[in-house]
Amino acid sequence: MNKKIKKIIDKKNKSKIVCLTAYSKNIAEIVDNHADIVLVGDSLGSVLYNYKTTRKVNLKMMIEHTKSVRMGVKKSLLVIDLPHNTYRNKSEALKNSKVAIKETKCDAVKVEGGERVQHIVSHLVKNKIPVLGHIGLTPQTVKGKFKSVGKSQKEKNKLIRDAKALEKNGAFGIVLECTYSDISKKISNLIKIPTIGIGASVYCDGQVLVTDDIIGLTDAKIKFVKKYVDIKKIINSAVLKFKQEVKSKKYPTKKYSY
Ligand code: KIV
Repeated sequence: MNKKIKKIIDKKNKSKIVCLTAYSKNIAEIVDNHADIVLVGDSLGSVLYNYKTTRKVNLKMMIEHTKSVRMGVKKSLLVIDLPHNTYRNKSEALKNSKVAIKETKCDAVKVEGGERVQHIVSHLVKNKIPVLGHIGLTPQTVKGKFKSVGKSQKEKNKLIRDAKALEKNGAFGIVLECTYSDISKKISNLIKIPTIGIGASVYCDGQVLVTDDIIGLTDAKIKFVKKYVDIKKIINSAVLKFKQEVKSKKYPTKKYSY
């Protein structure tokens, strides 16, 4: 097994896994200092391109952003999201994963779905492509409003079947999105591979968030998003100062001139 993947799995029950998104080199360099996993998520569709859903994101976009991120990631595991309609069957999934890995030198791919994609996960893993699963709220299949998953017994049973199917077919970890605390805890205790939660409670083996959300680059008003800094405010004040100095001819002084 790939050493980096083994390191992630070995963290289960020992040390929480830290995962954050990056869509470009500059953010990736900072995230890489602290994260175990850097994810180039297809959330870039809504965060950077204003798409209403991630379903419009294509492989070319994912590859270009991941190439940039790759330049900033030295130590973390680099995972690319396979976007919507790029893994509808085994051969499509393998072909696109190979292209993504070859072009970006990323370490693994992430696919959304549980039982529904288990044959795809198995095929990728058999072909030496490490796979991170993603169940619960899966944005690529949501058409209407986003809502939490796992309240009813029926949904809980489905989540358990999905998690077991991904583990059995070789996924090295599973993102649990917007799942209720009790079922997140149950799944995390039930399977041997790590769970990485996003809005899925402290019981997961790790946590993932969108970096742009935690630094305040977006105005996300989502229950599980914690804003650690208001970077927009900081950038705004720097841009305002620049403008004022240009207008008042304070910039550039001799120091900044040839
Ligand atoms: O697209 C994404 O960024 C994701 C994570 C936030 C889990 O899938």
